[in-house]
Amino acid sequence: MLFDFPILRWGMHRPKQDSEGLKRRAAEAALGQVRSGMVLGLGTGSTVAHLLDLLAEALASKALSDIVGVPTSVQTERRAKELGIPLIGLADRDRIDLTIDGADEISPSLDLIKGGGGALLREKMVAQASTRVVIIADAAKRVERLGTTFALPIEVVRWEWQTHVRFLHDWGADAALRVGPDGQPVASDNGQIFLDCRFPGGIEDAAALENALARRAGVVETGLFLDLADEAIIASPHGVETIRRAR
Ligand code: A5P
Repeated sequence: MLFDFPILRWGMHRPKQDSEGLKRRAAEAALGQVRSGMVLGLGTGSTVAHLLDLLAEALASKALSDIVGVPTSVQTERRAKELGIPLIGLADRDRIDLTIDGADEISPSLDLIKGGGGALLREKMVAQASTRVVIIADAAKRVERLGTTFALPIEVVRWEWQTHVRFLHDWGADAALRVGPDGQPVASDNGQIFLDCRFPGGIEDAAALENALARRAGVVETGLFLDLADEAIIASPHGVETIRRAR
């Protein structure tokens, strides 16, 4: 079979059904779990942008104090600094009390696809270092099976990235290089590139795929966040619902 190594222009793959009002409501509910003195993992994306605004307001009004944030991306770091939220690095503490992050897809068992914003590696490192991970989203992110509405992002090294397209094809995926408006590969905060992988019918066995990719040289990290989220706060026009992982 011939492969022509498709490209995917960044920003064109996200369904435009997001609602800023719903995202803000989810962020407000999550802020209710933040306590003074916490080390807080700060996710990335448009939903987390609301959380950063709300957190900055709470710090300014002294409703919360003595918070330090661990940003999961350059974008979040920049915005948090603009808002005056104190930041530290992931390596500065042994443990993060609570991380609040967004997601691209949320399964009924709280497994996730993340990385639409390109921050998946740092997001996963911060999530793994966290005592609790809370996901905030609008209801459009809920799926019955991962991979049905959103392409799975995978961060790979640049060298011979095309080999992964073939490998992923054998796993039932159409993988495309993520490129920006300038036609150049989108670079991660870590200097790597992304493949966005569409799975017709969704991902059959996410754990098996994650294991296979973890063993594969050249793959830096995947956007599969399995068994990492403790809770999802999901806002819909009918209200805010909290789903907790059964442990
Ligand atoms: C960033 O890389 C992603 O993992 C985001 O957390 C995810 O894409 C959710 O972003 P939005 O809140 O903008 O939908």
